[in-house]
Amino acid sequence: MKKLIAGNWKMNGSLAANEALLAALAQGMDAAPACDMAVCVPAPYLASVQAQKAGNPNLAALAVGAQDVSAHAVGAFTGEVSAAMLKEFDCRYVIVGHSERRQYHHESDALVADKAKAALAAGITPIVCVGETLAEREAGHTEEVVKRQLAAVIHANGHCISEIVVAYEPVWAIGTGKTASPEEAQSVHAVLRAQLKAATDQFARVRILYGGSMNAANAASLLVQPDIDGGLIGGAALKADDFLKIIAAAQ
Ligand code: 13P
Repeated sequence: MKKLIAGNWKMNGSLAANEALLAALAQGMDAAPACDMAVCVPAPYLASVQAQKAGNPNLAALAVGAQDVSAHAVGAFTGEVSAAMLKEFDCRYVIVGHSERRQYHHESDALVADKAKAALAAGITPIVCVGETLAEREAGHTEEVVKRQLAAVIHANGHCISEIVVAYEPVWAIGTGKTASPEEAQSVHAVLRAQLKAATDQFARVRILYGGSMNAANAASLLVQPDIDGGLIGGAALKADDFLKIIAAAQ
């Protein structure tokens, strides 16, 4: 299984900054990379990112994704963006259930599961984020939390579950500079793998990414773990050199 290195730009960037970042990535990108690559950009920039990609063959292997999607198909849902709309902009992936959305927008496990379903129905691969807070980890509830979050998605999506990507993002490691140690991450990834195995005989197709302060210095030691199939990168994805080094570490 090829590893997947996905950047989550979060609410960062501008037309000019994105153009410069993608141009710098294009310069350092291998024409036939050994891993899959993606950038998940703010929705208003999907068109400009796709246009730049179309004009630069070096960016051909870089997939484009979004950071959220509505669970609804169409209608009176002001401010929301549907999976069909994302598909029109050639989104290959969409992040669902990022901890920032669970935390600041009160997204429930059931809503996240419905968002994953909406993405799958439109032919977009959801990158389903799961992860425990520091309080949950310290209380010894890590496994229980991530299993509950993934179970909701499995329950809502049945056999389609083999088409998703999972991202384990411990909340305490996001944007803090504190990474889970490779062993800590691996042990949670193994739990998630076992849960997927019990849900589908196609479990080997599902990539489980690690996210949370992954950077150029620690990527290799995380990516070498048997159940870490890639990374979901926040801050380091905004710096071309760092993102390219993480991609190189995944080859
Ligand atoms: P950082 O890499 O900035 O910690 O963010 C991780 C993340 O939330 C990716 O979705």
